[in-house]
Amino acid sequence: MRSIALYNLKGGVGKTAASVNLAYLAAAHGIPTLLWDLDPQGASSWYFHGEAEELKARKVFEGTSPAGRLVKPSPYKQLSLIPADLSYRYLDIILKKVEPPREALRRLLKPFSEQYALAVLDCPPSLSHLADNVFAAADRVLVPAVPTWLSLRALEQVQAYFRTEGFEPKKIRPFYSMADRRRSLHRELLENPPAAMARRYPAVIPYASAVERMGEHRAPLAAYAGSDEPALLAYAELWLELKRDLGL
Ligand SMILES: Nc1ncnc2c1ncn2[C@@H]1O[C@H](COP(=O)(O)OP(=O)(O)OP(=O)(O)O)[C@@H](O)[C@H]1O
Ligand SMILES: [Mg+2]
Repeated sequence: MRSIALYNLKGGVGKTAASVNLAYLAAAHGIPTLLWDLDPQGASSWYFHGEAEELKARKVFEGTSPAGRLVKPSPYKQLSLIPADLSYRYLDIILKKVEPPREALRRLLKPFSEQYALAVLDCPPSLSHLADNVFAAADRVLVPAVPTWLSLRALEQVQAYFRTEGFEPKKIRPFYSMADRRRSLHRELLENPPAAMARRYPAVIPYASAVERMGEHRAPLAAYAGSDEPALLAYAELWLELKRDLGL
């Protein structure tokens, strides 16, 4: 099983939108996929109609209950979900006590390789013990970056953190998200990507109202958007780049 994380220190950049759409596309291509919502906001759980049971997650992270008990079906074939709820806000305190540090999530993911070929981790926007666990466990850390200086600065901070904390910087794969070609700064940064974007996936997710409407439909784009919707085509391209990169 390969694991990917959608992560950025910065909030509201399209991590959840990408998690939901990539997980859906992987499953639709016949790849048994598990989406693990690690964010107490529970946004990807909500898009996939998943309800969590509060106490179970805590026991799983403390190592006294198997992670398999957290899995819920999604409305889609080949796609399962581990939903989040507000108890995930304690995850950092729980993970701090787990030995060895940084390895809890990798250990919890291992048994899932019998059933799934891909795990997608939707992460909250923070540098924390949970983020350390994610960076250790994921084969690729996908970082959506809006073409603005602040968003790119957040990407550079993540890259610097990897270097100083001994994680593999090669795992990081940025991609442009919420790109609006009507804006001159967006156009400039898309045409001349800064060094931080060197290892990016070429797909560019456009700013699109169809993506915002995921909340109205509580579904991934492909479930309701036309097949010529540019944002759907961009996610499909991102999926193919990811698939190739992971050798799936
Ligand atoms: N490509 C896009 N075009 C337009 N709106 C988008 C796009 N991607 C995401 N959005 C909207 O922007 C908001 C934030 O998106 P999303 O929840 O995916 O970001 P996030 O990085 O997961 O945020 P958080 O840090 O809060 O977890 C949502 O309202 C979403 O509908
Ligand atoms: Mg999110």
